[in-house]
Amino acid sequence: MDLKLSVHIPQLIDQLGGLNIAESLQLLSSKFPGQVTFSTSFSIEDQVITHDILANKIPVSIFTLDTGRLFAETYFVWTSTNEKYDTHITAYYPDRNLLEDYLNQKGPNAFYESVDNRKECCFIRKVEPLKRALKGQAIWVTGLRAEHSPERKNHAILEWDEGNQVVKYNPLLHWTTEDVREYINEHNIPYNILHDKGFVSIGCAPCTRAIKPGEDFRAGRWWWEDSSKKECGLHVSH
Ligand code: ADX
Ligand code: SF4
Repeated sequence: MDLKLSVHIPQLIDQLGGLNIAESLQLLSSKFPGQVTFSTSFSIEDQVITHDILANKIPVSIFTLDTGRLFAETYFVWTSTNEKYDTHITAYYPDRNLLEDYLNQKGPNAFYESVDNRKECCFIRKVEPLKRALKGQAIWVTGLRAEHSPERKNHAILEWDEGNQVVKYNPLLHWTTEDVREYINEHNIPYNILHDKGFVSIGCAPCTRAIKPGEDFRAGRWWWEDSSKKECGLHVSH
């Protein structure tokens, strides 16, 4: 554990108590200038955080991991977000050599053939680029929500991410879907239209489907796999 960073967590928990997201991000960015970054997948919850950062001009950088397999609708919301807030969200891409080796050995849809292949694809397209994006950062802001899965209830609003050596801040952890929807409507924030078509948790196109009423939030992610394996390695709770 990096003592320099993790030691701040109890104090930060006290300081952020009672603040809204924009105020919290402002405070974090003043304590760690240039070292607070937010990862967006352009999900409806991520759009709440993006809005708070950009509408309030908070100096928190924003990046996305473009896996190369995202939905066309995701690229549309990315574009409309850039336009609305007059910005260019930074994209990180998979390492070309790793991707070419994987594709040339296993083929473009190898993730359907085994959990190992699927995890390798997620590693190359998401986990490795994330490591590069977080290098030198102190605080990683995410749109994780506890409602998404039983495993995600184990996360904390502020937690230490051992793998990436950063303090992770999950400000929406306890927001409900209604809270998110209300905020989006109230502030007229662009969102992925797939959320209106039964898609709840949206990742890569070949690995995400809409869910039926009553299904778990993450039932549409890697739906062909056993539910205990449904994480891609971005988020590990301790
Ligand atoms: S995943 O681990 O299953 O892919 P999920 O889609 O639930 O994650 O998203 C949870 C949070 O992880 C998002 O709010 C966002 O902060 C981050 N995240 C997930 N996918 C990406 C991506 N492609 N680019 C950037 N951040 C992402
Ligand atoms: Fe590959 Fe699917 Fe993981 Fe996207 S979600 S990185 S396509 S295995």
